[in-house]
Amino acid sequence: MNACQDIVLSVEDLRVSFCNEEGKTEVLHGLSYQLPKGKVLAVVGESGCGKTVHALSLLKLLPPGGEITSGNVSYKGENIFALSAEELRKLRGSRISMIFQDPMTSLNPIRTIGSQLTETILAHKACSKLQATARAVRLLKKVGIENARKRLNEYPFQFSGGQRQRIMIAMALCLNPDVLIADEPTTALDVTIQAQILKLIKDLQRQSGMSAVFITHNLAIVADVADEVLVLYGGYCVEQAPVQTLFARPLHPYTQGLLHSLVSLKRKEEHLPAIEGYPPVPGSCLSGCPFAPRCPQATPKCREALPALQEKHGHKVRCWLVK
Ligand SMILES: Nc1ncnc2c1ncn2[C@@H]1O[C@H](COP(=O)(O)OP(=O)(O)O)[C@@H](O)[C@H]1O
Ligand SMILES: [Mg+2]
Repeated sequence: MNACQDIVLSVEDLRVSFCNEEGKTEVLHGLSYQLPKGKVLAVVGESGCGKTVHALSLLKLLPPGGEITSGNVSYKGENIFALSAEELRKLRGSRISMIFQDPMTSLNPIRTIGSQLTETILAHKACSKLQATARAVRLLKKVGIENARKRLNEYPFQFSGGQRQRIMIAMALCLNPDVLIADEPTTALDVTIQAQILKLIKDLQRQSGMSAVFITHNLAIVADVADEVLVLYGGYCVEQAPVQTLFARPLHPYTQGLLHSLVSLKRKEEHLPAIEGYPPVPGSCLSGCPFAPRCPQATPKCREALPALQEKHGHKVRCWLVK
C-alpha cells in the first residue's frame, strides 16, 4: 500500500509466544504491516498459522499463557502497547472494533439485543438512554434487521445465525470505529448468507471510510473485500501484495497453491491439487523456509536458511526461488 497515505494502524515486528509446561513456543515471528485509512487488508492462511493470535495481540487481548515478546502496534501514530488499561478499554470498541467468528460467544445469551447495544453506546458516548435506543434501532436497520424497534426486546437465540452476525456487526459499528478487525466473520455461515454479510461489511466500510483487517482462511472471498492481501504461513508473512497483483501473479509457491486450489474448485475438477501435507506445528521448524517441507519447488537452500521478506515485482515475498 502507498507509503504517503494516512496510516491508521501500524504493526511492526510483532512476535507472540505461548508458555506451557514444556517452555515457550513462538507462534508469530515478527509480523509487520501498515493499514492506510479507508483500506481493507485481508490476512489469509490455513488454520493455525497465527491469524487470530495476531488479531488478539493488536488490542492486547491474548489468552493466559500468550505473551507479546516484541514489536509495536500503533494507532494513528500512538503506541497501543504503551496505553494504560483504561486508555486501552476506551480505544477498544470506540476507535478499533472487533468481530469474531462465532457471535454466540460474543453476545450475552440472557440479555436482550437492545440492552446489549444500548449499554455499549452508553458506556462510550455521552447521551440519554432514549438517544442510545434510537441509535440502536438505526444500527439494526442499517445492518438489515427488519422490525428493528420490536426486535430490540428479543434475545440472541431468537435470531438466526446470519442475523446474529449482523447484530455483531451493528455492535462493532455502533461507535463509528476507524478500524474494524473482523476475524473469520462469515466462516460459520452458509454460502448465501456469507455473501450477504461480506457485502454488508464492504458497503458499510465504503460508506464510513473505515479501515479494516479482514481475517479469513478462504482466499476465494478475498477478491471481493480486500485492497491488499497478506498471506501468513506458520506465523510468518510469506507474501503481501495488492489484491489484483496477487491474484494475477502469485509469487510464493504457497500462495500459488492456495490460488490453484480455488481455480480447480471453480472448474469442479475431481482431483483438487490442494497443497499436500500440513502446516508446521509451532516450535517444530528450526531452520529454513517454513513452507519448504511442503513446497514442490524446494531446494536444499530452502531447507537450510529462512529467506527474508523482500520487495519483488510489486510484492513483498519471502522465498529463495523468486528472483
Ligand atoms: N491459548 C493458546 N495456547 C497455546 N497455543 C495457542 C493458543 N492459541 C493459539 N495457539 C497456537 O498459536 C498458533 C496460531 O493459532 P491461531 O492464531 O489461532 O491460528 P489461526 O487463527 O490462523 O487458525 C497455533 O499453532 C495454535 O496452536
Ligand atoms: Mg483463527
